[in-house]
Amino acid sequence: MSLLKRIKKCLTGANQTGDNQSSVMISKNKDIFIRFDPQKTAPEISEREVEILKDCWNIVQRDVAKVGIISFVGLFETHPEVHDAFMSFRVVNTSDTEYSAILRAHALRVMGTVDKCIYRLDNRDKLRELMTEMGIRHKNYSVKTKFIDLMGPQFISSIKPHLETVWTDEHEKAWDNLFKLMCYYMRKGMCSI
Ligand code: HEM
Repeated sequence: MSLLKRIKKCLTGANQTGDNQSSVMISKNKDIFIRFDPQKTAPEISEREVEILKDCWNIVQRDVAKVGIISFVGLFETHPEVHDAFMSFRVVNTSDTEYSAILRAHALRVMGTVDKCIYRLDNRDKLRELMTEMGIRHKNYSVKTKFIDLMGPQFISSIKPHLETVWTDEHEKAWDNLFKLMCYYMRKGMCSI
């Protein structure tokens, strides 16, 4: 997608949520970030989307480790600067085995959080609490706020092959909305300290 189209897409998305104060930032590798506005209301997820997410998760869960690792490898390949955010990965002389163990452990933790969020879709207060606290911890790990939104698109690309037979635009939108909601609360937590 051309840079212009991507900016347009971001701006259109921002207008749809009634937010006309977001400002667009473009990084060196042409990622587009919308400046976070903590006053903005939380993204919506419809009942139909909750159903889709739960159905998909039942299928994807079998390959949870694979999906998690592919998401992170994709993230590091497309955004090498994110790699440095992982303090533990900066340890000098980390062997390949240790490195993959760290990668796998972190990927599984993220997948565990997705699992918790799917079940907390029926209790949005708990989802908010979980992700806001997660955001506060990520701030303490010195993770940049703008990196948080990069996770969703990588995750979606890695689950698609596992759901090939059922995947539609509706599925894409449901997962995009879930990550938007998770990241919204994480970023809110990060901004609160
Ligand atoms: C939706 C996105 C993400 C979720 C759900 C998530 C989830 C988690 C979880 C569950 C942990 C374990 C420790 C804890 O609970 O505090 C963790 C640790 C951590 N995360 Fe994330 N994370 C996300 C995105 C990111 C991104 C984009 C980065 C890097 C730029 C990152 C960097 C870290 C670091 C540095 C740690 C601590 C050290 C480590 O475990 O290796 N996270 N994350």
